[in-house]
Amino acid sequence: MQKFIFHPGPALKFGNGESSALANIIKPWGDKFILVTGSQSFVNLPYYQQWLTNFAAIGLIYKHIIVKGEPRAAFINEQCRMLRNNDYKFVVAIGGGSVMDAAKAIAAMVTVDNDIENYLEGLPQYKQHPGTTLPLIALPTTAGTGSEATKNAVISNPGINGFKSSLRHDNFIPRLAIIDPSLHVPCPANVTAASGLDALTQLIEAYTSTQANTMTDTLAIEGISLCVRSLKKAALSGDNIEARSDMALAAYLSGVVLANAGLGVVHGFASSVASMFDIPHGVICGTLLGESTRMNIKKAKILNNIIALSKFTNIGKVFATESNKDDNWYLDFLVQQLNKLIDEFNIQKLGAYQVTSNDLQAISKLTKIKNNPVTLTQEEILEIITSRT
Ligand SMILES: [Fe+2]
Repeated sequence: MQKFIFHPGPALKFGNGESSALANIIKPWGDKFILVTGSQSFVNLPYYQQWLTNFAAIGLIYKHIIVKGEPRAAFINEQCRMLRNNDYKFVVAIGGGSVMDAAKAIAAMVTVDNDIENYLEGLPQYKQHPGTTLPLIALPTTAGTGSEATKNAVISNPGINGFKSSLRHDNFIPRLAIIDPSLHVPCPANVTAASGLDALTQLIEAYTSTQANTMTDTLAIEGISLCVRSLKKAALSGDNIEARSDMALAAYLSGVVLANAGLGVVHGFASSVASMFDIPHGVICGTLLGESTRMNIKKAKILNNIIALSKFTNIGKVFATESNKDDNWYLDFLVQQLNKLIDEFNIQKLGAYQVTSNDLQAISKLTKIKNNPVTLTQEEILEIITSRT
């Protein structure tokens, strides 16, 4: 076995109904906190009223920040200017990936007297954030980005000179994740599908990553298996708590493995496309997953990359009920199953979001292959995105 370093995710409290006692769980952390949530999604949650009543009943004071859409740099800066020097002790995030990322950024940026653009990777003025942060307690309400387990917050500013960049530090991993599948029940089918495809993409990309190790492989393959068992069920019957539990855990695992092993070309596209177009992250990942996998397998065969081929074969075996087939059968089956899932979920091509053939050269130039299992030429990257536009 090769040497590796593994960073575990946050402490995890997992279980149906676990979040109902939120006020008592957070009380030891202090009496004044920042509460970051979505808007309508928050008031639809089963314990919404109970939480607010209990906060007041035990003397917890909070400032409520509502996040709409993916977090923008200007929004984080504006909120932090208001929140600084107010002696908040910790941050509680209740919501989907955008809420998690916004809360992570606010928890970190409230501790420094500066704008977030100075600490975003890839921007000209980038410098490393000192790593100071308020402790963060994360309660995800969608099963997708796994942001409740990662050390980065993705901040976007779409447009001509737009960006989608990460604020990142080892200290930014939330201190506690409370994963309560009952909070996922109100999540609509289309969001469940796109978020679940994001989690599946993260698990597949981390499993096949050049930085994967024994720990990430073990967790990723289990996460993929949970997605195979329950992604469709969770999207089609939102109140199926077993399916919601599987997907909630799969998403958390996807965050843990991506934080350790990194991601591949699909998430390269997620950055490049999102820097130019305002398209949900799960849709970008979902629409490109099948074709990217097909290209990676094709290139791994050309390069005779045995490790990559055996990883993709193993994933194909998780999807299959048939045994005793040869490796090529599982490789073809995997691509077929991913494309079938994308069709069944009606995940549209990028053309449906105003991306045109004129944009594809620029997108492929901006796309980084990260820790993709095989190197891809710009022509191959262009071929992937052309097939899904
Ligand atoms: Fe993702």
